[in-house]
Amino acid sequence: MSSEKNNNKGTFNSNFGFLMSSIGSAVGLGNLWGFPYKMGMGGGFAFLLIYVLLVATVGYPLMVGEIALGRKTGKAAIQAFKRVDKRFTFTGYFDTVAPFLLICFYVVFGGYIIKYFLINLGDFLNLGFGLQGMDSGAFFEQFMSSGLEPLIYTYIFLFATFLIVVRGISGGIERFSNFAMPALFVMLLVVVFRANTLPGAREGLAFIFKPNFEVFKGMGWLSVLGNAGSQMFFSLSLSSGAVIAYGSYLSKSADIESNGWIIPVADSVVAVLAAMAVMPAVFAFGLEPGGGPGLLFVSLQTVFQSMGATGPIFGMVFYLLVLFAALTSSIAMTEGAVSAMLDGQQERGKEPNRLKMTLIFTIGAFLGGTLVSLDALGSSGMPHPFGLSTWLDVFDLGAEGILMPLGGLFFSILLGWFKPGILDDEVALTGPFRSRGFYQFSLRWIAPVFLFFIVIIQLNAFFGFFPM
Ligand code: PHE
Repeated sequence: MSSEKNNNKGTFNSNFGFLMSSIGSAVGLGNLWGFPYKMGMGGGFAFLLIYVLLVATVGYPLMVGEIALGRKTGKAAIQAFKRVDKRFTFTGYFDTVAPFLLICFYVVFGGYIIKYFLINLGDFLNLGFGLQGMDSGAFFEQFMSSGLEPLIYTYIFLFATFLIVVRGISGGIERFSNFAMPALFVMLLVVVFRANTLPGAREGLAFIFKPNFEVFKGMGWLSVLGNAGSQMFFSLSLSSGAVIAYGSYLSKSADIESNGWIIPVADSVVAVLAAMAVMPAVFAFGLEPGGGPGLLFVSLQTVFQSMGATGPIFGMVFYLLVLFAALTSSIAMTEGAVSAMLDGQQERGKEPNRLKMTLIFTIGAFLGGTLVSLDALGSSGMPHPFGLSTWLDVFDLGAEGILMPLGGLFFSILLGWFKPGILDDEVALTGPFRSRGFYQFSLRWIAPVFLFFIVIIQLNAFFGFFPM
């Protein structure tokens, strides 16, 4: 394939493919589950407001910067940072280790989603493997801690990820995303429509959209800001190798600035739609809006079960869309790390071997995923390091808590202070860089201050140094 030649790793066939893959990377469990439940904890509208502000002032400039860094250097995180400034090579390592940690719990949820798709299918076809009216809370507990079964689903999800990534950029990632993302969007609209025609749904919509500034009265807004900040980082897939790697496969004729805002806008629209699917249903059935991991599996399954005959159909549609979202994200995590490892091979004068590098990453995910799955969200009684209560938290602390915000902090210090303007020519290749003043101001003043703050809040969320 001639298009695979220019950096020896592959390229996207079209800007649309880049966009679908990048939006696919961004849209994931972070949107469909994390966003609604953090919004539930953060007082609804106030969370939405802070989130949107952060995406515009911090998310957008970092997104433009990461795409431009990848495209300018043609490299994934480690080599990309090294080429721009040797002293920042370690930031590339942060961005490359992060997806190794993220994938360890992501695949476990991916497995749960497959199971929930199947039980709704079972209920729909009235076959023996459905839920058949069993209490969804009890079912979730039992399934999650049953040892072998969730493990097998975890491996199936991991294997699917492997199969797509090993096919390369245009033949694997781009092809899957071009189909999965539009399908996801249509399915999401169907579920939103159904959720909002439930009796009692209006209260849920009011929770999202009705101005309410209660949390700004005390210190509560600090934790809302912290939650919204880490949510934004994770949801936009920043500082985790993926955006830089995808940028390195992007054609020189593509407009980075417009891609840089389309991705965060699409990601935020999907997050709000997910909240519009989840909150009305949660309120209609009198469930808890800040319900944690259970929200996706227990609360929503309760809703589907109480819809009568059409419940399993909506359940299938819903879990299938969540599955697509999770797969395009696990693909992006894998590619972020694999791409950096392929660069490493080239640096050592070897022919890059995608199969081998994808296999190495998958073996790591296999080991970590096994641990997280058997831990059953902490209920296994296994010991957990650092005084945390689940293995999921251990991996999440490493990635979302430490490596990702630090990666973002150093990236903004690099672009705001050490080498300001270094990527401007890359962004300006296709036309004037219109938001340059804003981009530069944010990377110098807003992003570093904010990210420093996020690092502290994140560490506090895991270790509870001070009450918030
Ligand atoms: N953005 C994805 C989500 O919201 C997670 C992700 C993080 C994907 C990092 C790729 C890299 O679920």
